[in-house]
Amino acid sequence: MQPIVQASDVRKHFDTHCVLDGVSLAALEGQLISLIGPAGCGKSTLLRCLNGLDVPDSGTIEIDGVTWARAAGGRAPAPEVAHELRRTVAMVFQGDSLFPHRTLLQNVMMAPMMVLGVSRDEAAMGAELLLRKVGLFAEMDRYPAHLSAGQQQRGAIARALAMSPKVMLYDEPTSALDGGMAQEVLDTIALLKDDGLTQIIATHELGFARAASDSVMFMQNGAVVETAPGDAMFRAPQDVRVQRFFQLFA
Ligand SMILES: Nc1ncnc2c1ncn2[C@@H]1O[C@H](COP(=O)(O)OP(=O)(O)OP(=O)(O)O)[C@@H](O)[C@H]1O
Ligand SMILES: [Mg+2]
Repeated sequence: MQPIVQASDVRKHFDTHCVLDGVSLAALEGQLISLIGPAGCGKSTLLRCLNGLDVPDSGTIEIDGVTWARAAGGRAPAPEVAHELRRTVAMVFQGDSLFPHRTLLQNVMMAPMMVLGVSRDEAAMGAELLLRKVGLFAEMDRYPAHLSAGQQQRGAIARALAMSPKVMLYDEPTSALDGGMAQEVLDTIALLKDDGLTQIIATHELGFARAASDSVMFMQNGAVVETAPGDAMFRAPQDVRVQRFFQLFA
């Protein structure tokens, strides 16, 4: 099977600082991949390169058959490629915020209506289904200020899903949340995996990475140190840098 996401030898500098030092990643359709590793190792930058927020200095990124960065030399993707990318890939951030003056339902309806030209009725139907999926059907008419942080984060996931992305990227989606709320968000991500969505998540939630991922990638200093299936990585890490990290954090 051809990977739906394939990054090859991606390099990225900020000034003289090498942040991604030849990173490669492949995700098959429906896989959940966790990116783990110490603070500053390049997880967020890699995700940002995958969805076009950052442009690699070199390397290729191919998502669902569209190659958007080919030795791009710092150039942003061409407008038509950027458009394609936004349809294919969605990203949810830590503490992602919903539009405060719109209800949850309106938040989820907005992009399909404005970007895809979907009718109001159709957008509402789609949004209700998504809110049911993330466990927020009963909250659909509330404003973000009246939702818990965890509910807001699940609302942000529903809003991203409303564009029917083929790939979801998450950057520390639970790190602003305490235990129970973090678990609800992680349960939602696991549920979406059961639906066959391809997902890549940068996370410090090692228990989740172990239990839910098809593959875990450990990064350090902008490079991939080790990639292994979730359980194998934690049971028997091969690289001494991964072993040390787990001694401290797992
Ligand atoms: N826009 C930028 N300009 C300069 N340096 C940056 C920029 N963005 C990130 N960096 C640097 O790149 C390195 C990698 O950062 P990145 O945010 O990708 O790491 P991370 O693995 O996501 O860390 P964390 O676990 O803390 O979220 C860090 O040293 C960071 O300071
Ligand atoms: Mg980060």
